[in-house]
Amino acid sequence: MGLADLLLAGSVLLPFQVTGDAIPAPLGGLTGDAARGRALVASRSQGLCLLCHAAPIPEERQQGNLAPDLQGVGQRLDAGQLRLRLVAPHRVNPETVMPAYYRAGPDAGLNRVAAEFEGKPVLTAQQIEDVVAYLRTLK
Ligand code: HEC
Repeated sequence: MGLADLLLAGSVLLPFQVTGDAIPAPLGGLTGDAARGRALVASRSQGLCLLCHAAPIPEERQQGNLAPDLQGVGQRLDAGQLRLRLVAPHRVNPETVMPAYYRAGPDAGLNRVAAEFEGKPVLTAQQIEDVVAYLRTLK
């Protein structure tokens, strides 16, 4: 396997730089796809976002109310701020229950829910960028 395959498989984490409350640069310089991001947010096996959040995804009837409604989040937060909240939400609020979607091992916080994610980030760098692109459309 070459580096590109490992990155795609999500078994190598790219470095990222936090500036203020944001990660200004896209992970790996990748470009996100909002349609794929929407599917990830809606997904009950991967994103799991709707366990806690509501979002304007009407075909998913069961949505959470533990966390802020994602409607309008693209107006409140820019891409860098959204990226940090997905990659390392604990940097914004150390007490948060939101899992870190781009961190491997026990740090990720989601292992309690799904042991199969252990040793791998929940989402790959490309998937993080896809979700950021989708959230940016929620104005
Ligand atoms: C286990 C519950 C949980 C899950 C799952 C979860 N979140 Fe969150 N999320 C939260 C909570 C709670 C907050 C509020 C921030 C805090 O805790 O300080 C939050 C905050 C956010 C914010 C910042 C919102 C704002 O208005 O400031 C974004 C963006 C976000 N989540 C996106 C997502 C996405 C996208 C997913 C799925 C990939 C996801 N979250 C999964 C609980 C969750």
